[in-house]
Amino acid sequence: MTSSTIDLAVIGGSGLYQLPGLENVQRHSVDTPYGPASGDVVCGQWNGHSIAFLARHGESHTLPPHRVNYRANLWALHSLGARRVIGVNAVGGIRDDMGPRVLAVPDQLIDYTHGRFTSFCDVEGAEVKHIDFSEPYTADLRRRLLAAGESCGIALVDGGCYGATQGPRLETRAEIARMRRDGCDLVGMTGMPEAALARELELDYACLALVANFAAGCGDEEEISIEEIFEHLRVATTQVPPLLKAVLAQ
Ligand code: HPA
Repeated sequence: MTSSTIDLAVIGGSGLYQLPGLENVQRHSVDTPYGPASGDVVCGQWNGHSIAFLARHGESHTLPPHRVNYRANLWALHSLGARRVIGVNAVGGIRDDMGPRVLAVPDQLIDYTHGRFTSFCDVEGAEVKHIDFSEPYTADLRRRLLAAGESCGIALVDGGCYGATQGPRLETRAEIARMRRDGCDLVGMTGMPEAALARELELDYACLALVANFAAGCGDEEEISIEEIFEHLRVATTQVPPLLKAVLAQ
């Protein structure tokens, strides 16, 4: 894979706070017009490719989804030269084949979040930009992820609609039933406004969704166990580094 100074940027979600084995590591604390990013952008070499990594919730997971400074995060990556970004997001599964530990590459989304800064236009004097968002994820980057899964033998579900909720609480059964009727296959708290902001900056962007649990009312469980969520995420996350390396090897 060849591109700008950074071959690939990765935004790690819950359970992914660093990339193991990064070499020549340089940490960048980027001063952005939107305030601080979630933490330092960690740049380094990975299998001969330059990569930038940012932990969305902070390296010690101190930022809940609604308090993540999505604008600063995207701006920081862009200003360091990133042009392709993969967002890794923990999700709940709504569709039957989206059970715990499944990895999916969604192709659509519905935004149910509120009160977040959703645009770089949201500052005095900024140029008003209406982006086309019919296809919220970059087709080429999605294809690369799916091809990487094929080449390294990691099963990925191709497509699905990601419903972005406000969090940090999980949803009620009624909310998930409504989301299912709306056509959502997955539910997560961090997919938006990240995807839209990436598009505003003309970054290639794709989502790698790690299913941590069946969403409320979708599995056999009466209640969703947070311990189980983290255990499923831990297992699903072990697949991420080899998958990303296979993306870079293309
Ligand atoms: N809902 C929203 N976000 C999530 C879930 C969920 O059930 N699981 C992991 N992230």
